[in-house]
Amino acid sequence: MKYLVIGATGNIGARVVQRLINAGARPSVFVRSTKRAKALFCDQVDIHVGDLENPGPSLGRALVGVDGIFLVTDGLDLEKRDRAVSFAANRAGVRHVVKLSTLDVRTGIGTGPWHARGENAVRESGVAFTFIQAAGFMSNAFGWSESIRREGVLRSSTGGGKIAFIHPDDIAAVATASLTTRDYDGQALVITGPEALSYGEMTDTIGRAIGKPVRFEEITDGQAYARTVEWAGKGAYADALVDIWRAVREGRLDTVTDGVKQITGREPIPFDQWATENTASFQ
Ligand SMILES: NC(=O)c1ccc[n+]([C@@H]2O[C@H](COP(=O)([O-])OP(=O)(O)OC[C@H]3O[C@@H](n4cnc5c(N)ncnc54)[C@H](OP(=O)(O)O)[C@@H]3O)[C@@H](O)[C@H]2O)c1
Repeated sequence: MKYLVIGATGNIGARVVQRLINAGARPSVFVRSTKRAKALFCDQVDIHVGDLENPGPSLGRALVGVDGIFLVTDGLDLEKRDRAVSFAANRAGVRHVVKLSTLDVRTGIGTGPWHARGENAVRESGVAFTFIQAAGFMSNAFGWSESIRREGVLRSSTGGGKIAFIHPDDIAAVATASLTTRDYDGQALVITGPEALSYGEMTDTIGRAIGKPVRFEEITDGQAYARTVEWAGKGAYADALVDIWRAVREGRLDTVTDGVKQITGREPIPFDQWATENTASFQ
């Protein structure tokens, strides 16, 4: 079987590529930078260079002989890229597309509507699909590292609300299983971490992992927006993040499922393990 990973140099895509390599496959990757792909995977992958903003013939060439695709796209207009890939895939005879989506497709919160439109585009293409509707990623907590390192504090507008962040390895494990077994064709898999935790609880967990007290400080939506605009700029992404944090505070994002266990046969990785793996980022 030949697999193509789009988004291979990213957080989840790179883990899917590594899992495919570990399983004895030689995946193809569609990347914007050969250098980044080589740094991550050496000569264990076939590299196709292109940009989904303007793929031209590069995408068609990457699809030749491919059986299954793992697809990561991002942004308000991700539907455009999901459409381009899935229609080209169907024309090229690709049998299956696994799209990284979000649990928020079900709630309409944050980036949910972006991915809902992306899922529809994939459906319309006629290619067999699996949607990975993941909860918030544990790796989002890297965004807290600077204030924890410098001031021993995490500031958030999530109040006492809870969310069951999921470990990136669990997402990659589910995506790889979907791709390689084809057992989940036509399904939207809702996957979360093992338990919903408040940001205050996650702050304490990071504090324990680094052996230093870390304080949780509540801020308003307006303050959260102003801080987000500093690094993300004004626009749909900053709006989506504040929307998600508000929904966490209001208890609308505390879903926990047994999706990871059902699909991988093992329990999802808890947040304290993620924190222990990543202490260097918070010290
Ligand atoms: N964070 C969360 O809590 C959460 C929760 C649920 C769902 N999601 C979804 O997860 C996805 C993000 O996954 P991730 O964390 O793995 O992303 P990531 O680390 O930001 O990686 C994005 C990948 O896409 C590639 N890419 C971006 N634009 C491209 C283009 N025009 N052409 C070709 N490749 C392009 C990037 O390549 P370069 O290396 O060249 O930049 C990179 O490999 C988004 O769809 C997001 O909505 C996130």
